[in-house]
Amino acid sequence: MKILIIGGAGYIGSHVAREFLDTGHQVVVFDNLSSGLERNLFPEARFVKGDILDTNGLDAVMKEGFDALVHLAAFKAAGESMTKPEKYSVNNISGTLNILNAACAAGIQRVVFSSSAATYGEPRYLPIDEDHPTNPENYYGFTKLEIERFLGWYDKLKGLRFAALRYFNAAGYDVKGRIGGLERNPANLLPVIMEAACGMREKVQVFGNDYDTKDGTGVRDYVHVSDLAAGHVAALDYLVKQDKSLTVNLGSEAGFSVMELIETTRRVTGRPIVAEIVARRPGDPAKLTASSRRARELLGWEAKYSDVDTLVRTSWEAYRKHAGL
Ligand code: WQD
Repeated sequence: MKILIIGGAGYIGSHVAREFLDTGHQVVVFDNLSSGLERNLFPEARFVKGDILDTNGLDAVMKEGFDALVHLAAFKAAGESMTKPEKYSVNNISGTLNILNAACAAGIQRVVFSSSAATYGEPRYLPIDEDHPTNPENYYGFTKLEIERFLGWYDKLKGLRFAALRYFNAAGYDVKGRIGGLERNPANLLPVIMEAACGMREKVQVFGNDYDTKDGTGVRDYVHVSDLAAGHVAALDYLVKQDKSLTVNLGSEAGFSVMELIETTRRVTGRPIVAEIVARRPGDPAKLTASSRRARELLGWEAKYSDVDTLVRTSWEAYRKHAGL
């Protein structure tokens, strides 16, 4: 099939593009390179530089005809979304409406959307399944949830079929080492640990060690980005075969603590990593884990690379090369 990947030069988007190419699809990547990187592009996938706020540019690329589009073009810093909501309204919400309207005009009927576990907010029970109430704690999560609701209406009114994939904590790098672009100014835990391991930063700050968890540090469901990528291909396959929209979690169902990731990185890399315990970060729940039962049942999907060693090892390969170690 011919797939348009919007945001395909980003960290997750480039892995998704790779997976569609590997499974025999034709891919066009559309990205404004605001956080995406040229080095994340592949020669087999045509690249169109463009912005989702430019409706003419969207119309022009979609006019050539696609069987589906994957939408991963969004700002994703939960903290920043609370201080600069306008930025998130314009890009995430208006930008997505531009995409949906252009898709309808061009007759593109299938959308795979990069949603987030941030749609759930503070967990009421664990593991979190798709029936868990949605009550985002930050504006970023709100934009993702609103987009899911727009998608629901476009399904009813325009016959657009969508897969909303609620990612848990994306981590790791391509298991075959084909993607080398590092995220700029990362705030997420594993890239921060990697930067400390390479000497790109002095230390890792551990946000609290007095949580009610195995070692007192926060526990999250880290899902390997190659597993996430496979979930997109499986979701499109479902849309084609079932002609029905769906909303699913993509998580590993395992929970790793901050200290487990730091200790695994010390062991795998042999590098000393300074960890400094600091105050809790406001808004952080102690523990978040997914139920991915629905993805397993409907998509036949399961996480294959999301064990802690593979997450750390594949990330280290990317950072090590970058740092020349
Ligand atoms: C993980 C754990 C921190 C950094 C965020 C977004 C969420 C989703 C994924 C997109 C927590 C601890 C972190 C550090 C630390 N994004 N930590 N020191 O907060 O679970 O989720 O990314 O959809 O919307 O909110 O991820 O990587 O920031 O934190 O101790 O320097 O690591 O407290 O326990 P989070 P994270």
